[in-house]
Amino acid sequence: MNRYTIANIPGDGIGREVLPAGVRVLSAVAQRCGFALEFRDFDWSCETYLATGKMMPDDGLTRLADHDAIFLGAVGYPGVPDHVSLWGLLLPIRREFDQYVNLRPVRLLPGIRSPLRDKSTGDIDFWVVRENSEGEYSRIGGRTGTGEDEIVIQQAVFTRRGTDRILRYAFDFARKLGRPHVTSATKSNGLYHSMPFWDERFAAIGAEYPEIATDQYHIDILAARFVMSPERFDVVVGSNLFGDILSDLGPGVTGTIAVAPSANLNPPRRFPSMFEPVHGSAPDIAGQGIANPIGQIWSGAMMLDHLGEAEAAAMVLAAIEAVLLDPQADLTPDLGGDGSTADLTRQILEKLPGR
Ligand code: NAI
Ligand code: MG
Repeated sequence: MNRYTIANIPGDGIGREVLPAGVRVLSAVAQRCGFALEFRDFDWSCETYLATGKMMPDDGLTRLADHDAIFLGAVGYPGVPDHVSLWGLLLPIRREFDQYVNLRPVRLLPGIRSPLRDKSTGDIDFWVVRENSEGEYSRIGGRTGTGEDEIVIQQAVFTRRGTDRILRYAFDFARKLGRPHVTSATKSNGLYHSMPFWDERFAAIGAEYPEIATDQYHIDILAARFVMSPERFDVVVGSNLFGDILSDLGPGVTGTIAVAPSANLNPPRRFPSMFEPVHGSAPDIAGQGIANPIGQIWSGAMMLDHLGEAEAAAMVLAAIEAVLLDPQADLTPDLGGDGSTADLTRQILEKLPGR
């Protein structure tokens, strides 16, 4: 029997409510499909920071390294500045484990109303591939001068290796999906050095995949097209900053970020990859037991897919869709219902085959 060890990091706020929901669904599907998941809990969060001055212990990454994957809730909470929680936990994991791909499906699920009038299931169905390790998110730069003379410099870093590998991932992924079309997010009219380089590499890597159609848009008009004509996209690849924005805009046009999943992948599998919902810790509803667990559960399905359990992953997604299509379903308030996290999780469990 295949056996996988998973590091659970529930984190903060609703992360502590939706992660256990994800664990319940994954455990149930593992049992049905005949593989074993061993979850180990790591209670690293903003609370840890307030108690110890650190988001995770010094040997935190070493302790995570021998797991097959990391399953994360959300990190960040009022009382600890967001750049402290992000740079103290999430970014070290993404960077030290070289999770250079951030992958997100953008799919309008059945039963969820898009804010885009007249769009239905099937119209919005594409993937955002975000560079996750370099680019605009760097610590290089500084502040100098005071008062009116203050100067702030923030440098972006684009390496040939880092750029080529994310572009290649996007093309390989489009090939694997059987949707031979890759769109690049650029801004080579405004950014003088980095984006002309990005465009050059996109053309060069694209030439290695002659059967895959390509196009590219400046980030501003691309954002507009996500809203005006989402049907035209299959796989969209962007730098760290552009990909970050697009990968929230995408789920936004599908109606709610609460159901959106994401994967931070180390494609060579030298290190564990990390799976987490797109949403944050939602302090405004934390502790009420009403958070929507679908983003977490769908992230778990992406984790199963990554582990090679594609059939189990498909079962989880089918169960989610079946609940959303069920007119009797008791959905959470963000989906217009008055059900709890536990109610929605139970209904997803009930829709798994073989019960
Ligand atoms: P957020 O995603 O936590 O919340 C935005 C809005 O969406 C809120 O009104 C919230 O109630 C709602 N919402 C989010 N997830 C939901 C769910 N599962 N069910 C129902 N409603 C849901 O974003 P916000 O408020 O900007 O950030 C709060 C904290 O979370 C911050 O400290 C931020 O840094 C952190 N954060 C962490 C992320 C991560 O761990 N990757 C990602 C985004 C934010
Ligand atoms: Mg984001």
